[in-house]
Formats: sequence, C-alpha cells, structure tokens
Amino acid sequence: MNDINREFVDHDEALAQAEAGVAKLAAERNDRWYPKFHIASNGGWINDPNGLCYYKGRWHVFYQLHPYGTQWGPMHWGHVSSTDMIHWKREPIALAPSLEAERAGVFSGSATTGDDGRLWIFYTGHRWANGVDDADENLEVQCAAVSDDGVHFEKLGVIIDNPEGFKHFRDPKVWKTGGVWYMTFGVSSAEQRGQMWLYTSEDMVEWTFKTVLFEHPDPDVFMLECPDFFPVTDKDGNEKWVIGFSAMGAKKNGFMNRNVNNAGYMIGTWEPGGQFKPETEFRPWDCGHNFYAPQSFNTVPGDTNDAEGGRQIMYGWLSPFVQPVPLDDEGWCGQLTLPREVYLGEDGDIHTVPAAEMTGLRTDSTDLGAVNVKSGSEHVVAEDAEAMEIELTIDLKHTTAERAGIKVHATADGSYTYVAYDDQIGGVVLDRQANAYGDRGYRVAPLTEAELAADELKLRVYVDRGSVEVYVNDGRQAMSSYSYAADGPRAVKLAAESGDLAVSALTTHNLASIGLE
Ligand code: FRU
Repeated sequence: MNDINREFVDHDEALAQAEAGVAKLAAERNDRWYPKFHIASNGGWINDPNGLCYYKGRWHVFYQLHPYGTQWGPMHWGHVSSTDMIHWKREPIALAPSLEAERAGVFSGSATTGDDGRLWIFYTGHRWANGVDDADENLEVQCAAVSDDGVHFEKLGVIIDNPEGFKHFRDPKVWKTGGVWYMTFGVSSAEQRGQMWLYTSEDMVEWTFKTVLFEHPDPDVFMLECPDFFPVTDKDGNEKWVIGFSAMGAKKNGFMNRNVNNAGYMIGTWEPGGQFKPETEFRPWDCGHNFYAPQSFNTVPGDTNDAEGGRQIMYGWLSPFVQPVPLDDEGWCGQLTLPREVYLGEDGDIHTVPAAEMTGLRTDSTDLGAVNVKSGSEHVVAEDAEAMEIELTIDLKHTTAERAGIKVHATADGSYTYVAYDDQIGGVVLDRQANAYGDRGYRVAPLTEAELAADELKLRVYVDRGSVEVYVNDGRQAMSSYSYAADGPRAVKLAAESGDLAVSALTTHNLASIGLE
C-alpha cells in the first residue's frame, strides 16, 4: 500500500496548476448557454456531483472536474459552497490527483461529518494498470481525506485496496446507522454483473467487507456507478430503504433506459449489515435526455435553516451523453440539476421536487391566470426568458388537444424545445426535434392511470440558458435536458395541436442568478 500512497506530485502544486487551467478556460468562456441558476464550473468540464453535505454552517457541493479542457479528462474535485442553497460562492479546487493510487484521477465519492467533528470525504483513486493509458484496464481503490474547515483537505490515502484487480470498483457512499459506519460502492463482478458491495468500520479508517449489498437482476447491467442508499418513511410510519445507482449496460425498453446509461432506484428493506431486499422494480429518477450520476445526502436536523431538518436532498449531473456536444468550444461543459428534495409520497413512490429554497430566487412574478389556446395556434407568455420558472396547470377535462403545452427557447429561426402533455402517448413529452443545436429526439415521463383521469396536470418548468428541467405533478416525475437556445430573444409560448388547450393557472417567475456566472 505504501507505494500507491506515494506522492508523484505535490498536492498544493497540482491544485494551483488546476486553478490556472480553469481560469484560462473561464477567460474565454461563451455565456450563451452558461447557467444562471444551476451549478457549473467557471471553466472546464464537470460531471458527477460529489461530497454533498452541510458542514459548519455551509452547504457544500463538490463535482468531478477536468480543469484543462471541455471534455472528460483526469478528474479533480471542484467546489462551491453556500449558506442558503441558492447563493453560491466558488471555493478552491479541493482535490487533484497527487498519489500514485489516483494518478489518473480522483473519482466520485461522498462526504460526512466524522465522529471527530471533521469533514471526511471518501472517493475513488483511479489509475491505469500499465501506468500509461487504459489499454490494460484500470485499477480503482477507495481513498479518504479530512478537513477542519470544509475547504482544505488532508489526504489519508488508500483505505480499501482493490482485491482482485476489478476494473470497475468505485464511488463510495458512506453513512452511519446504529453506531456503525457503512460504505457501499459499485463493482463489476468477475461475472460482469453490476453489484454494490457493503463494508463496515468503527473508526472510518479500517474497513471490513461485509456482503454484496445488492446485485442488479438484469444480466445486461455490468456496473452500478455512483450508488446511493438511504432510509425513508412510508405513509404508515414504516422504514423503507431506497437504493439508487447509475446502471451501465441496460437495454432500451419502451420509455425506459433511453439514455446511454440510466440512473434510477428501487425501494425495499434493509437490516443493517445484510443485503438489500427490493420491493419494487427499477424506476428512473428522471426521464429527461441528460440526467445521470445523482447523489443525495441527508440534512441534519438542527444543523440547517430548515426547522424540520432531515430532508434528503439530491443533485444530478446533466450528462451530454451524445457526441458531438455543442459545449465543446464554449470554455465550459456540464452542469448540475437543481437541488431536489426526495421523499416517499402517499402513493408509495418516490417524488422529487425542487428544494423549497429555490423559491428564494424568484424576482418578479406574473400571474397570467387562465388561458385558452385554440387548436393550431400559439400564445406568447414571455418575449424573452433567459432564466425563468413557469408554473402551469393544464385543465385535462377541457383540453381536447392531442398534444399541447409550452415551447421554451423559441427563437426567431423557428427552433424551440417543447414540453407537452401528449394525450396519445399518455405522458409528458420533452421534445427537442426543433432544436438548432445538439442531439434532438424526445423523452417521455409516462403518467399513471390516476394522473390521466385527474382534472389537472401540473407542470413546473425551469428554463435556464442551456437547459430545461420539468417537474410533473409535484415531483412525481422529473425531466432534465440540455436545450441549446439559438440566437436572439428566447420566447415562451403555449401551443395546442389537433384540439384546444385549456390552462387553468399560469404563473411565471424570473429567476435571479445563483452568483456563479
Ligand atoms: C460516473 C462516473 C463515476 C466515476 C466518475 C469519473 O459518471 O463514471 O463512476 O467515479 O464518473 O469521472
């Protein structure tokens, strides 16, 4: 182990170089799609949210960062923090590869306050088996680092070595239950099955293998990236556990698994130290084009501004997935979703809603009341919406349209992104076929029989400069997609096809910047 814990470069020097790399890209950044109210790096590429936590009065969001380019590359941990979850400030890059064990990247992981009151982060050290490239497989190990201020980290090195040279062996999630520390991470087994392994520890440094927490039932799934595992309470007060993961290898099937890799969850039960017992099938966290590698954390009662505390907050990453990516030449690439509260609804399923804090970003709001849109026509809601939240209630009983909803990023050249209720499909559709840039296609959030039979369909749509995020019926479904608006004013319009649209309530809110532009 000593050898792989050796420094090949001074960590502070590596961090300083990475800061310079980001600054160089940031200086030439194009802002046409740069988010106003989503977390992104000021320059460079980002992917998964990492180390989400509340520590010493601040929310911390770290993320996988490649500081030297707008494509994925040797990973670092970028960092932003906030006191209120909506106004963010940039912090120094937290981790750069500096130990042999992580020569090719400091990969994803989680954070928790340790028994010693310090902030502990657990992450994956990634190196190439041949030291040069990934031609002869990768070697991954779990590492730890600690901090007194949540900003500067001291590396403790490797805490779990890779027993048999597993290629995929990564993304530790750590939590405490019943006085025992637990860790799970994703493994591609010798039989190429996607598994999550469970370890325990008394002191957070010595870890012992306990069991395979979960193996994905689909033999096509060969790896579970970014595992998550947390308890929720059902309507009868029973404890359930939610297992989350980003599955690699699942085949497309109807509305399911439409993206290259797909993140979702199952609900079930768990006795500490044992295996997870699923009670549901796999369900997606989000039905959009770009959602991936989410992570969640539990806010600590008393530690937060929220009187109740104990909320499960999730961030996901908007993965560009499909090449070519229009952001390649923009100086930055990759953003996170809004913070979402995850909870078990009365219906026994998981709901994800924007964290309550998000309403604090509203500047001016406009109540547009009820609106009817005749078949084949459009109704302009806003002439130019760069950063807007739209609350829309569709009156299903009086809507006769085959498809109707809201067009955003609607520009003079005729391009737009369409968020619509589709009566024929029986779902909410996020359609990018009229986009000027990037991958197009549509995605569907299917509605249940009960939702289709209801009087109303509620949509909450967040339009940022380069993305759209949709919450259906108070978070029963969510959809996150990039939407690269074309030049000129970006209108928002209601539209109805093959029948009329009846909107019973419509409110728009311009949103302020979160301070990272
Ligand atoms: C998921 C992922 C993780 C890994 C990280 C590397 O997007 O592949 O499994 O830790 O990204 O950047």
